[in-house]
Amino acid sequence: MNHLPIFLNMHGAHAVVVGGGEVALRKIRILREAGAQVTVIAPELCAGLSALKEAGGIAHVARSFDPLDVAGARIVIAATSNGRVNKHVSEAATAAHIPVNVVDHPALCTFIMPSIIDRSPVLVAVSSGGASPVLARLLRVRLETMIGSAYGQLAHFMARRRTQVRQHIPRPDARRRFWERILQGPVAELLLGGRTEEAEGLFAQELASPRADDTLGLVSLVGAGPGDPDLLTLRALRLMQEADVIVYDRLVAPPILALCRKDAERIDVGKSAGRHAVPQENINQLLVDLAAAGKRVVRLKGGDPFVFGRGGEEIDTLVEAGIPFQVVPGITAALGCAAYGDLPLTHREYAQSCVFVAGHCQNDGSSVNWAALAQPHQTLVFYMGVAAVATISRELIRHGLPPTTPAALVERGTTPQQRVLTSTLSDLPDVVSRQSITPPTLVIIGEVVRLHDRWAGRTHASASALRAAG
Ligand SMILES: C[S@@+](CC[C@H](N)C(=O)[O-])C[C@H]1O[C@@H](n2cnc3c(N)ncnc32)[C@H](O)[C@@H]1O
Repeated sequence: MNHLPIFLNMHGAHAVVVGGGEVALRKIRILREAGAQVTVIAPELCAGLSALKEAGGIAHVARSFDPLDVAGARIVIAATSNGRVNKHVSEAATAAHIPVNVVDHPALCTFIMPSIIDRSPVLVAVSSGGASPVLARLLRVRLETMIGSAYGQLAHFMARRRTQVRQHIPRPDARRRFWERILQGPVAELLLGGRTEEAEGLFAQELASPRADDTLGLVSLVGAGPGDPDLLTLRALRLMQEADVIVYDRLVAPPILALCRKDAERIDVGKSAGRHAVPQENINQLLVDLAAAGKRVVRLKGGDPFVFGRGGEEIDTLVEAGIPFQVVPGITAALGCAAYGDLPLTHREYAQSCVFVAGHCQNDGSSVNWAALAQPHQTLVFYMGVAAVATISRELIRHGLPPTTPAALVERGTTPQQRVLTSTLSDLPDVVSRQSITPPTLVIIGEVVRLHDRWAGRTHASASALRAAG
């Protein structure tokens, strides 16, 4: 280890920064966040530092550096573009036994400034020991995605309850196990999801009757998005990497499953149209049983759990059984396919509304309000509509939409196999059979489809679409 990592208390302490440019400003911002009183030594200040001085945020000594300037400082930072001045500052501070950092000159430093993840009171510092600040920054970005912004609230929540827990559970080993259970169980998860009241209720319950070894289970209904793993939310990814069990659907793509915790149990309850691999009631009961056994369950669903995802039914059962749960939204197929298929669903020149419709209607179309759908200036997105495309086309035309209305089929949207085919409303059934369209496919009907054809070949494809194009 080349350095000793420590966290320095700078509240009210004096910090001297030599240099008045943008680099100095960046360091000064961090010093001020840590509560330091900052004096800047520089003949001139950049606009940002001048504004800070005006606002009373720094003291400014408008001249060149003098070795006596370091007197009384807890730390000194040199951030000038002049190597001779930087060296001078380093020598003066070192002679006075004051820690000094010279930006981008590890050899002149007695301390280095790490990249930080600030979830105060939780702080994570990353350093490459000066070997590669860019590597440290990239690592920080990775950690940022793992340590969600609510970790600070979680730490405050725990801090406020420490005395109470100490009184309630006097034995240190039992107390440690209690805290581990809380931090790895639903209380922490509910807090991270912003459901503070429920977390408080559950915490009180746990404290009133602490259980021996087992943790309370939790079911997270997680939207996995339409296929491209890059479209997962940060929370989805974290939960997938912490889960004990993953219960997943047919629509969840293998590259997404590959991101789940390696040793998590995986249960495939996949359904395809008309063929229910596991009946919905059995899935509901499975979730209850797993959580009751203390497991952290991730119920992974394609798209968003609440958009034609039967998430509501699963939650009904969890509520009845008293199982804690949370829902993590995902990007629904309509939004993913629209973005990757160049179909701006509500372009203001073409559509003022957009309706998501479950397309697995009866052959006679009697279950759908076609008159409400067959409106001008409206985009229609049919989920599960491929099998019923003849009915959809026939009924929309019968209720007033012109047969020439543009229509698109997006097959396996956002994945490397994505296909977008455009046609007219009257020709849709033909295209489906001629092109052997298979699920999952979205049917999008409305004038906005013209933009796909107009933009064809001229848009900047997303990374995944580029991959799809080979
Ligand atoms: C049971 S629904 C689930 C919808 C999902 N909960 C969502 O929010 O996207 C399944 C239908 O969603 C559509 N779908 C899902 N993923 C798709 C994709 N990657 N490309 C095209 N359509 C998709 C298809 O119409 C498919 O039949």
